[in-house]
Amino acid sequence: MTLTPTAADKFSFGLWTVGYNGSDPFGGPTRPPLDVVEAVTRLAELGAYGLTFHDDDLFAFESTDAERQTQIDRLKQALADTGMTVPMVTTNLFSAPVFKDGGFTSNDRGVRRFALRKALRQLDLGAELGAKTFVMWGGREGAEYDAAKDIRGALERYREGVNLFAQYVIDRGYDLRFAIEPKPNEPRGDILLPTVGHAMAFISTLEHPEMFGVNPEVGHEQMAGLNFTAGIAQALYQGKLFHIDLNGQRGIKYDQDLVFGHGDLQNAFALVDLLEHGGLEGGQAYTGPRHFDYKPSRTEDITGVWQSAAANMRTYLLLKERAAAFRADPEVQEALAASRVPELSVPTLSAGETYAELLADRSSYEDFDTDAYFGGKGFGFVRLNQLALEHLLGAR
Ligand code: GCO
Ligand code: MN
Ligand code: MN
Repeated sequence: MTLTPTAADKFSFGLWTVGYNGSDPFGGPTRPPLDVVEAVTRLAELGAYGLTFHDDDLFAFESTDAERQTQIDRLKQALADTGMTVPMVTTNLFSAPVFKDGGFTSNDRGVRRFALRKALRQLDLGAELGAKTFVMWGGREGAEYDAAKDIRGALERYREGVNLFAQYVIDRGYDLRFAIEPKPNEPRGDILLPTVGHAMAFISTLEHPEMFGVNPEVGHEQMAGLNFTAGIAQALYQGKLFHIDLNGQRGIKYDQDLVFGHGDLQNAFALVDLLEHGGLEGGQAYTGPRHFDYKPSRTEDITGVWQSAAANMRTYLLLKERAAAFRADPEVQEALAASRVPELSVPTLSAGETYAELLADRSSYEDFDTDAYFGGKGFGFVRLNQLALEHLLGAR
């Protein structure tokens, strides 16, 4: 296995990630702006296959049509020169003052109509560039105060908007699907659709649920104290993992957007193991872009920006290598069996068994030896986890 990224690995980066200039609520930029052509060129050299962007990353908010087109043409030329692709696009409905109370769910109807138009325009551009996924992260769709937002009304307006997009994509014949990105808070005190579970429940209410999935981000679930890998497993189970944002987060705090693996490394190992080996036949469980949504820390200069971009891909490939070794280790296979992990795939009822037969089965209840579970019948999960850790550390 090689640790040099290639296009086959499907690594992609947001223009806003390597382009992050270091500004935060406490200080201004620490780096100059990064031009899109340089971003595409350097990412291609490092082994990425895709660039993603918000409309406002490529051309400033309220650019003239000519300014917008100039930037689109420059991007297209850079893609042609490097062979890079645009697998996903998204709209910025959070930076401009007009979106201070959100886009699709602003209390101000005029703002909502403007947000719909802005998103439709970016849908057209995404289709033109061959993007297959349209991500929707509603960072400003939320509130700080309970009385300020009618949550049921906001969900209804969100639903109205995304139903409109689905119909638009169908009518235009675009080959695009939507991926909703949950986040619990930041920048709003509370954001609508705060977790993977909320988003999937919302999707089931839409007119075309099959066109909508999720774009979970490592740090966002971990900001809510949730197990990211477990959330991804449920999204896969429900056929809803349309895209993924990889990064690192250290516990319940602000959105850190660290390099992938620079947060909860054990959970990152489990995630790569799931994505690469969790398929029904044992292969990849997810074949879409491995998209990094991280921020090069504001302590870094441009050298550090490219080192951090490379670090995301290298960490992913290292974890993929370690996960393959974990799966191939006979002792791991034996420990999995001892922990009865495969037994969970066996249906609890026998084929065709009814509740009447279950009730008649004395071995399932009357004669079942529950006492054996006191002081015996351990599951051996700790041994299994230590084996995983040893593989992760390269000790096996
Ligand atoms: C964040 C989000 C964003 C989105 C992006 C794409 O916390 O800022 O993760 O980076 O991923 O807006 O929709
Ligand atoms: Mn984030
Ligand atoms: Mn993200």
